[in-house]
Amino acid sequence: MHYRHEPRFPDNFMWGASSAAWQVEGATAKGGRTPAIIDLNSKKKKPFADNSIASDHYHHYKEDVALMAECGFSSYRFSLSWSRIIPNADRKVNPEGLDFYNNLIDELVKNNIAPIVTLYHYDMPCWLEEKYGGWLNRGVIEEFEYYSKVCFEHFGDRVKYWLSINEQNMQIVYGDWLGVSKGCDNWFEQKWQINHIMNLCHAKAVIACHEMVEGGKIGPVPGMVPIYPETCRPLDQIAAMNAEEFTEKIWNDTYVFGKYSNFVKNYWKNNNIDPKIMEGDEELMAQAKIDFFAVNCYRSNTAKDAPLDAEPREYLLNKDGKKGGLQFPVNPGEFALTANPYVETTDWDWEIDPGSLRYTLRYMWDHYQLPMMITENGFGMHESLGEDGKIHDQARIDFLRDNIYQVGLAIEDGCEVWGYNPWSFTDLLSTGNGMAKRYGLVYVDVTDEQINQAQDISELSLKRIRKDSFYWYSKLIKSNGKDWGRDD
Ligand code: BG6
Repeated sequence: MHYRHEPRFPDNFMWGASSAAWQVEGATAKGGRTPAIIDLNSKKKKPFADNSIASDHYHHYKEDVALMAECGFSSYRFSLSWSRIIPNADRKVNPEGLDFYNNLIDELVKNNIAPIVTLYHYDMPCWLEEKYGGWLNRGVIEEFEYYSKVCFEHFGDRVKYWLSINEQNMQIVYGDWLGVSKGCDNWFEQKWQINHIMNLCHAKAVIACHEMVEGGKIGPVPGMVPIYPETCRPLDQIAAMNAEEFTEKIWNDTYVFGKYSNFVKNYWKNNNIDPKIMEGDEELMAQAKIDFFAVNCYRSNTAKDAPLDAEPREYLLNKDGKKGGLQFPVNPGEFALTANPYVETTDWDWEIDPGSLRYTLRYMWDHYQLPMMITENGFGMHESLGEDGKIHDQARIDFLRDNIYQVGLAIEDGCEVWGYNPWSFTDLLSTGNGMAKRYGLVYVDVTDEQINQAQDISELSLKRIRKDSFYWYSKLIKSNGKDWGRDD
């Protein structure tokens, strides 16, 4: 649809931004927190900084919330660090961990900013891994349920929007990159066992949230990368559907319908995969009715047919921000991904495709008829302070403007969308490139090199500096999506 008018956003639309504990908090050894597997994983990514300091949000949270309020936020999506709340296998709840999150939540509420809280964003505690060997052990399910209940009990009076597991699909697709494959020796089969365990964790959290949080709503957070067929050749269309299944649809169907689809069941059967589903598991999954989808979406992909005799090729992400480092995968018999000549790409070879956000929202709405909120979308770039001490991030403004416009169009198309929370508010660590790949509306004055060299945190500035995109976004959201800041 083309419209003759500008898109309109609902009056109560939630405008904010997004983060995750291990990427923003720092203070990994403070306040009683114990290590998480992701800490160890992030240490392997040198020369990029690990997460011991990150944006030091742990010590700057008041200032950060004040900046959110100044910007005009009505929501903020962040995650809780499991090992800050439950630091050891004895399951004792850490009062200092609770204090930190209670203070942050109070500060948000005081400023009329609705907290949107993710229970799990890639940071399994090391104690859990030591006790059970990682995600592959069903013991994790009960621990996750216990942890979720602790969170609902302590924060549920003020937090009404809950997210279960961040990008479960991407954790399974990218295994090692996000640290979930620990303890596995046959990833091909075991990833489906881990996936099943994650589905049960998600289900337990959904059920507990509805039981414990008055007026609470909970949803999963799929990482959505919509797939276009390379051509109108029918085989390419089927390949695009395969890619969609293997990267996102299998997960979304399971969350909504509470059971595994014929597509994935046949795939397991044909490949002798035993996901280790036990009696009662699917009943539990069916009981867990989600209220909404939290949608992460940055880009699109393009797929083409890959015959059985095609040469297999691994998916290699661009890990340093030098254009051209990404390698598209070829999965014989399923699909191959390929470049899209119609879109530009970022320095990390991510497609710049605002229309993909509208496509995703339409797709999700058509398939599931559930409300959605955008919990991630954004533009990662190399950035450093200019001579004037400022950040003129016009490319990010263009990206956000074009993407938010598409959200508006999706709303005009009839999709129910509750809010938009781009990644990220302040600069924070990227999953693989530390501070070298920045997403924030607010610059944090620190580099990977400085973090790596500092003997003590007091040597670092960590000053917050509003970027041009902060001012642009502020105007847009204060006008509820009317002031696009265009020159015309
Ligand atoms: C999302 C994750 O998939 O992408 C975030 O939920 C992540 O944790 C974001 O930071 C951007 O990816 P990256 O690799 O650029 O940090």
